[in-house]
Amino acid sequence: MKPSTDLTTTLQQMLAQCQPLYTQGKVADYIPALAQVDGRQAAVAVATLDGQVFSAGAAEQNFSLQSISKIFGLVMAMNRLGDELWQRVNMEPSGQPFNSIVQLEWEKGIPRNPVINAGAILVADVLVSHYSASKTAFLTFLRRLTGVEAIYADPLVYQSELEHGNRNAALAYLMKSFGNIEAEVPQVLEHYFHQCATAINCKQLAQSLLFLANRGVQPGCNEQICSRRDAHRVNAILSTSGMYDQSGEFAFKVGLPAKSGVGGAIVAIVPQFGVITAWSPPLNRFGNSVVAMQLISQLAEELGLSLF
Ligand code: DON
Repeated sequence: MKPSTDLTTTLQQMLAQCQPLYTQGKVADYIPALAQVDGRQAAVAVATLDGQVFSAGAAEQNFSLQSISKIFGLVMAMNRLGDELWQRVNMEPSGQPFNSIVQLEWEKGIPRNPVINAGAILVADVLVSHYSASKTAFLTFLRRLTGVEAIYADPLVYQSELEHGNRNAALAYLMKSFGNIEAEVPQVLEHYFHQCATAINCKQLAQSLLFLANRGVQPGCNEQICSRRDAHRVNAILSTSGMYDQSGEFAFKVGLPAKSGVGGAIVAIVPQFGVITAWSPPLNRFGNSVVAMQLISQLAEELGLSLF
């Protein structure tokens, strides 16, 4: 599918139509630093495999990457550990909220998938155990993918997560009690919070994930970021679990591998075409941005992007 040059106009119109939806969501406040963000902001960007980037709204405004960071962590862990990773984390949808604890107890410390919090903390353990400086390695990976050196974790968000991360600590200690966490829990949590606190914008995020739409090869630099098989696997996990317990509805309505974060962003992968990102802080009850959901749904419908 070729994007038309008036895609920018389409994006601007969609963004304008979404204005009334701001009030239907609530900005995340369980991490106090996120509650400071102005909820009346929105942006959308489309990066295509041929190097174009279309956008509308505040597409260069930084937001907190949050759970979308789980994609990058997962790719790094898959590259380091290979198939061994899948003995420690499953690839099934959880049907539970992203920070649920009960399932982890039933399933003996093996997280349902790598994009719920328990799974991402497990992945953080792999990174901490296999890199001498995992936080720097994570940022270096993002800088390589975006070509932007100025990508950092927001220190206020990081601190806020450290101070209010008791539930994530509970998940980590529970997995440790089952022998599924190797490193010391505080170190694992520091890595996890640090990657979640990464600040990025819609244009950068869309460009950073193009390799998932291109069988593992990052266009532009032409680097093989992960194997074709792993790109396929990550997209499969995002299709079934990326939108948490709204993943079924998202597949039904939109039909693209996608991932949301409580910073208000959603990224959707369109194989052989490109990546769509949308951002607006107010969230629905599942933790997915109301406006970003609408923008991506409408665009996928308009351009006929569903994979199904
Ligand atoms: O651990 C947390 O709860 C946050 N740092 C990330 C959660 C998140 O983004 C869930 N996404 N919808």
